[in-house]
Amino acid sequence: MSTTITVSRPDYAGVVDLDRYPIHDLESNGGMMLIDSCRKELAKDGCCTLQGFIKPDAVKIMVELACQLESKAWVSDRSHNVYFEPLDTTVEPDHPLAFQVRSAKHGIAYDQIPEGAPLRRLYESDDLTNFIAAVLEKPVLYRSADPLDALQITLFKPGEELGWHYDRSEFSVTVMYQKVEKGGDFEYVPALRSKQDERYEDVKKVLHGDRSRIKIQSSEPGTLAFFHGHCAMHRVTPVEGAIPRINSVLTYGEHDNMRLNDLTSELFYGRTSPRRD
Ligand SMILES: [Fe+2]
Repeated sequence: MSTTITVSRPDYAGVVDLDRYPIHDLESNGGMMLIDSCRKELAKDGCCTLQGFIKPDAVKIMVELACQLESKAWVSDRSHNVYFEPLDTTVEPDHPLAFQVRSAKHGIAYDQIPEGAPLRRLYESDDLTNFIAAVLEKPVLYRSADPLDALQITLFKPGEELGWHYDRSEFSVTVMYQKVEKGGDFEYVPALRSKQDERYEDVKKVLHGDRSRIKIQSSEPGTLAFFHGHCAMHRVTPVEGAIPRINSVLTYGEHDNMRLNDLTSELFYGRTSPRRD
């Protein structure tokens, strides 16, 4: 007697194009091929983009939601160095430890995103966490425990940008909802530094306009991207035109109590604890 195993459609079936990206059934041939191709792309380019991962209807809902929540977003506009660390006053002003870039954006925190929102349903599913762990070859991976930063939405309005920087976490996962008329490009330099070598001279060249090693990530709405943000310096160029750039960052860690420190939380969200209203 043979046993038929049925893989049921999960809660987020209307969010992800599961025919193309079967994250609910990673042990199937399609699931294994997907993981393999993502690993290869990540190893080759330091970045893996899955176009059409989020279905158009879900993208549309997320854009509408972001526009509704815009008035409650935390607006930040500040200068910083690429390491998000205090400026080093003992080095030359053009040294990466002292050189300042600008970041200006509208940040919508996790606790402002309704539980039924398509991306929140997807983020909170173990299927997506397991898929990301498999691609990154992590034996275990946890969603962030931060009540504000675990999943967020960023709007870059005209004139806003994200300056060159490295992420503190080893990798980032992003979802794109809305691209702009001009500017707003996600630019990155793969493996600009390593864990052993900061390569300040190479960083300095990029900060002063050398574009020879810069790559641009796809910004088509619905794209999910994996990215080695700890070693690849990256930025979002200033947005031009009337349409804001809208995307989410999904945060994961290798331990189960990952949170922002108070300083960073104040910076990104203007507060350190969940809203009471
Ligand atoms: Fe980043």
